[in-house]
Amino acid sequence: MRRYVIAGNWKMNKTPAATRAFIGELAPMVAGKDGCDIVLCVPFVDIAVAAEAAKGTNIKIGAQNVHFKESGAYTGEVAADMLLEAGAEYVIVGHSERRQYFGETDETVNLRTKAALAAGLKIILCLGELLEARQAGITEEIVSMQTKLDLAGIPEEDLQNIIIAYEPVWAIGTGLTATPEQADEACGIIRSVVAGLYSQAAADAITIQYGGSMNEKNAAELLAKENVDGGLIGGASLVAEKFTAIALAAN
Ligand code: PGA
Repeated sequence: MRRYVIAGNWKMNKTPAATRAFIGELAPMVAGKDGCDIVLCVPFVDIAVAAEAAKGTNIKIGAQNVHFKESGAYTGEVAADMLLEAGAEYVIVGHSERRQYFGETDETVNLRTKAALAAGLKIILCLGELLEARQAGITEEIVSMQTKLDLAGIPEEDLQNIIIAYEPVWAIGTGLTATPEQADEACGIIRSVVAGLYSQAAADAITIQYGGSMNEKNAAELLAKENVDGGLIGGASLVAEKFTAIALAAN
């Protein structure tokens, strides 16, 4: 049985005060809804406040990026042990906005994933095709390649700490959602690549989320699909009622 994970990706939204207020509002709404893990990936400066506010609740806290070195002259970057100590349990790696706007490549995604694993963080590893790739009919090739490159050199036992988020870039923040069939198909491709790289048992066990304009209206249909084990939610995770509705759909 795969564990469903519903994760919010706040991106560059909410101050520490707004974070405290949001978790105060969300916690009673999702209390006892333990059919899925509930994670909020917040800006770096919100992590400590979020972890404090989430103490004693079923809400887990994550970051949105991590550097691949343990320390050093990397101005503006944050290391894995800093995230852990601040209270993060999870970290998003390889989000398409990092790839598009900040020069992230499969190589750095792989390095960041390894650094986060070494520190004991759980990873939400994002990948997905651009609109041009889907239109050119090469979604399978792109998603397979990203899965292989991003997981290169990572041993099978570490997969228990990795969630893969399939996020078609054309669906992120656009209001365009992949159809449940498209999401299921791509998540299934990723799962079969994991089977080829590791084992069928590893493929059967790994949580694969869909992300891209998932909301309170379309979540149930997407989550009902065989290969979709949760969601990575941007816009709708900023509103407690909407995020709760998605968590309830996963339950
Ligand atoms: P969205 O973002 O739900 O706003 O489309 C998803 C994501 O970027 O993870």
